[in-house]
Amino acid sequence: MNPASLHKLLAGLPLGGLRYFDSLGSTNDEALAWAADGARDLSLVIADEQTSGRGRAGRKWSAPPATALTFSLILRPVPAPPEEAEFNPSLFTGLGAAALADALKPRGLEPRIKWPNDVLLDGKKVAGILAEAVWTGDALDAAVIGIGVNARAGSNPPDETLRFPATNLEAELGRPVERGELLRDILSALIGWRAKMRGGELIKAWEENLAFRGQEVRVWQGSEQPLAGRVAGLASDGSLLLLVNDKIVTVQFGETRLRPAL
Ligand code: BTN
Repeated sequence: MNPASLHKLLAGLPLGGLRYFDSLGSTNDEALAWAADGARDLSLVIADEQTSGRGRAGRKWSAPPATALTFSLILRPVPAPPEEAEFNPSLFTGLGAAALADALKPRGLEPRIKWPNDVLLDGKKVAGILAEAVWTGDALDAAVIGIGVNARAGSNPPDETLRFPATNLEAELGRPVERGELLRDILSALIGWRAKMRGGELIKAWEENLAFRGQEVRVWQGSEQPLAGRVAGLASDGSLLLLVNDKIVTVQFGETRLRPAL
């Protein structure tokens, strides 16, 4: 991946700007700062190496050079009817997840989205999404969707840090993947889904790709005892619907952790 080839590959997309780094702390941090500094809608930050990348709940997501695909896209709330001016981290995460699923399927893979923010292949995590926001007072200035994909061999996190089994695209496909082409396909799908974020279409696509659907799982929220139930689907705001003792329980996006029941 280099800036010249990226510019060429992404030329057909309506990006507002592009910042490429050989090495960067976190593409989300750079995108949040750029958004606060006036970045245009659909501005993109991409790094070949990420040295202090962040995951949900303050976890680390670093990526050695030339292995992972790590990028962040800035979305301004445009068009801006009142309902767009809110930041629902769940929906923005679902937007990234649905785009990832769309980009992986034509490559012969069967991605599943583990609610709320992981993409799995064959039951192992291959990608994660971190949606964050920039505010001016109570008004949403921009949303940032950060995506990290274990693309090439060597991009899996170190074993001792794993909270869930991990894999990478190269291992699953048995051949290397071209990260620039994958980026183009994810962005293209994401821009398409963004226009359909409201009105149920995105939720439907997300739900169709949901991992463990109909299966027993445990969901931890904070330090509470886990909730045991069957994955029933998603609510219209992207919350998880669990069937617990014949009743649907809604699990809000937040400090949650979901695992299949053994
Ligand atoms: C998670 O699994 O908890 C989410 C991981 C998100 C990682 C990506 S990599 C690109 C972007 N920059 C970051 O610092 N984090 C996200």
